[in-house]
Amino acid sequence: MENINKKTNAEVLDQILQLKKSFAGRVLIAAHHYQQESIVNIADVVGDSYRLAVIASQSDAEVILMCGVRFMAESAAILARPDQKVLLPDFSAGCPMADMTTRASAEKALASIKALTGENAVPLTYMNSWADLKAFTGSKGGSICTSGNAKKIMSHYLSAGRKILFMPDKNLGINTARSLGLTENDMCLVSQDGLVPADCKNARVFLWDGYCPVHLEFTPDQVLDLRAKYPDITLMVHPECVEEVVGLSNSAASTEGMANEIARSPSGSVLGVGTEYRFIERMIRGNPDKTIVPLEKFYCSDMDRITPENILTVLKAYKEGCADSYCVSVKEQDQNDARKALSAMIAITEGV
Ligand code: 13P
Ligand code: SF4
Repeated sequence: MENINKKTNAEVLDQILQLKKSFAGRVLIAAHHYQQESIVNIADVVGDSYRLAVIASQSDAEVILMCGVRFMAESAAILARPDQKVLLPDFSAGCPMADMTTRASAEKALASIKALTGENAVPLTYMNSWADLKAFTGSKGGSICTSGNAKKIMSHYLSAGRKILFMPDKNLGINTARSLGLTENDMCLVSQDGLVPADCKNARVFLWDGYCPVHLEFTPDQVLDLRAKYPDITLMVHPECVEEVVGLSNSAASTEGMANEIARSPSGSVLGVGTEYRFIERMIRGNPDKTIVPLEKFYCSDMDRITPENILTVLKAYKEGCADSYCVSVKEQDQNDARKALSAMIAITEGV
């Protein structure tokens, strides 16, 4: 049975490669680092959410086929040219963290911060959010950020003396604020309904009470167990982990940051990694000269909704001129406002 599955998978991958060839560069397959290895292998580009957004804004391809979750495809569609299409093989590839904020509750929180402090806080919204929240962010003069550039962008607004409404990941917000030397007194938690506590008048960063259920599974005890087993281990984790886990680790970085750190580490290194397991699995296979161990094995089921089979279905549909049902679109007004927020992110990150 296993052999039959392997053969089917190989046939599917082969058909994908043949179709890709026939498109002669008109279709760009972009994959996030959490995608399964066979998808990474057929992709033209692989990256973290920042890299995927930048690539989408620069690609000459007619079509970007996004192998990742829906907010990644939406971001590509926001940045794409009007004549470019962004296709997503399965629209149910969501993100529970992105579901933890709505535009209406964000508006309520921003108004409450103004009423409490007399200041207009700037929204700083994680890429892991839906297009309408990105649009809200752009309409209020704010920026998007990713795990790779959150520190630079938060620092940019703090040094301009602005208060920040950071949405929707409180853990990325806390870990970033801590890395900039902020203390608990500088931070305040805003509920998912947009309620701002009355004792937060002096806070500088207002943190939305959202989180990634996958990264929330990592605990300080797991870190202590791993360190007991491998006393010389260098542990890197994703900044969506809780601050106690980040505090016990050697570094926190985006998926791309971790991939680079692993590549740079000398042969024989013992490296622990705390993020989605498909990424770690691929790092283990790609770096046989290093000992790479997972902090734990957790999977993102949304990322897993993209498969070689549904990629092939989309490519066939595009070839036959009937891929509209896979096309990701964003309302025109939302697209204009969200593009401002994504462009602000790219400009601050690249220093332009
Ligand atoms: P990266 O931008 O680090 O790839 O993270 C995306 C993500 O969804 C992590 O859960
Ligand atoms: Fe969303 Fe977490 Fe999955 Fe990333 S790993 S896509 S934040 S649920």
